[in-house]
Amino acid sequence: MDVTVGVIGLGNVGSGTLEILAENGARIREKLGFPLRVKAICSRNVARKKAPAFPDAVTRTTDWREVVRDPEIDIIVELVGGTATAGHIIEEALRNRKSVVTANKELMAIRGAELWAMASENGVNLAMEASVAGGIPIHTILREGIAGDRVCELYGVLNGTSNFILTEIEKSNAKFESVLAEAQQLGYAEADPSADVDGLDARSKLAILAALAFGERLTPADIYTEGIRRILPVDFEYAHQLKHTIRLLCLARQSDDGLLLSVRPSLIPQSAILAQVQGAYNAVWIRGAYGEDTFYYGRGAGPKPTGVAVVSDLMRVAREIRHGSPDRVSPFAHERLGEYKPLPIPTQALPYFLRFRVEDKAGIIATLATILAKHQIGIDAVLQLPREDWRDLPFVITTEPAKEQAIRDALVEIREADFLVEAPLAMPMERGF
Ligand SMILES: NC(=O)c1ccc[n+]([C@@H]2O[C@H](COP(=O)([O-])OP(=O)(O)OC[C@H]3O[C@@H](n4cnc5c(N)ncnc54)[C@H](OP(=O)(O)O)[C@@H]3O)[C@@H](O)[C@H]2O)c1
Repeated sequence: MDVTVGVIGLGNVGSGTLEILAENGARIREKLGFPLRVKAICSRNVARKKAPAFPDAVTRTTDWREVVRDPEIDIIVELVGGTATAGHIIEEALRNRKSVVTANKELMAIRGAELWAMASENGVNLAMEASVAGGIPIHTILREGIAGDRVCELYGVLNGTSNFILTEIEKSNAKFESVLAEAQQLGYAEADPSADVDGLDARSKLAILAALAFGERLTPADIYTEGIRRILPVDFEYAHQLKHTIRLLCLARQSDDGLLLSVRPSLIPQSAILAQVQGAYNAVWIRGAYGEDTFYYGRGAGPKPTGVAVVSDLMRVAREIRHGSPDRVSPFAHERLGEYKPLPIPTQALPYFLRFRVEDKAGIIATLATILAKHQIGIDAVLQLPREDWRDLPFVITTEPAKEQAIRDALVEIREADFLVEAPLAMPMERGF
């Protein structure tokens, strides 16, 4: 007997998923011992879609309700995206006792735990491997592969678009705006790029991974987030002088006092394995109390890599349906999520990279040093590359480890100075890599 599937959403991921199911169907059948049969496909413009060669028996519809109510369908694949319609699709599918496979990070980051509870109540499954880091099976790793470990730290490069932009600025010395335009032309960035470049997409992914890794019930709003819009080529020049590079670093670090979460551009040593992640690739580095360091790398998006994650989830869920497994492994790895114990960002102590753009005048360094000293911030180094335009001179001060609150307070004071061309940029210099 086959297991039947309804696919809702035939865009990038939906089309990749269907192609893999059609082209790789024989192998999938061999691996499972039974076929996965696509029974229905649905999108708003389904008539215009060139679905790969499926038998005529595949129902094509514009109405997702038809698919989630079809009594012959076992698994619903939600690939519509967003939180509104996708939420209704998943709820109704679960209520109708159909398992769900989704790639929807935005929805899962906000409502994942609630929807999982609903799936459990209805005795069906909810799988979301494709929602984070597309082609990297990071869910399975955290949920099962290293479930026996206690995760202490998790670092990720989780947004391919920002990583493409940062690594292009680094390579070609081009400005953010022109690299963003190139990313849009290449199809790496949306017309409205804010979800990617302002860190929101990475924030949803980190919320899902941190809930999985640490078993705490948290939402994207719990995560301190800064995007990459202010990064200039000169920041890389100075970072390189310090043998560092800059990445949009997703960080989740647990200590006895709580869980620290952030998504922000950060300096990391050039020797760190995460510094080697180039272009639209993603990576996750996990440090466990027992298994120590493990590293996962791959394509973070794209129809086929994400399609593989969807199809692999389909296979696992289909096996469980077929074998009537009553115990499903929670997509959150913990039977019950505990309360989020936040460690406020201002309490973390790290060295900071402070970049200033100033109109050259006498006494600038003395003024900055006085303000930093007043906030008990020690200066480690002052870096200034030769520049011709005295009206816009960039230079960098790196600090000794200092509390972020002290850095923030000092910068509020520094912002009053009349020699600044723009507000200073502060980035933590991450250690322990
Ligand atoms: N793109 C990636 O590489 C990637 C990677 C990982 C995760 N994801 C996630 O995967 C999901 C899908 O992303 P995508 O890039 O494939 O999106 P997409 O290309 O925009 O495709 C969305 C699809 O949903 C259909 N749709 C929208 N509203 C609908 C409705 N009310 N009823 C039926 N169909 C509807 C659209 O139909 P029409 O085409 O007919 O208008 C389209 O086929 C999102 O949650 C995204 O975050 C994407």
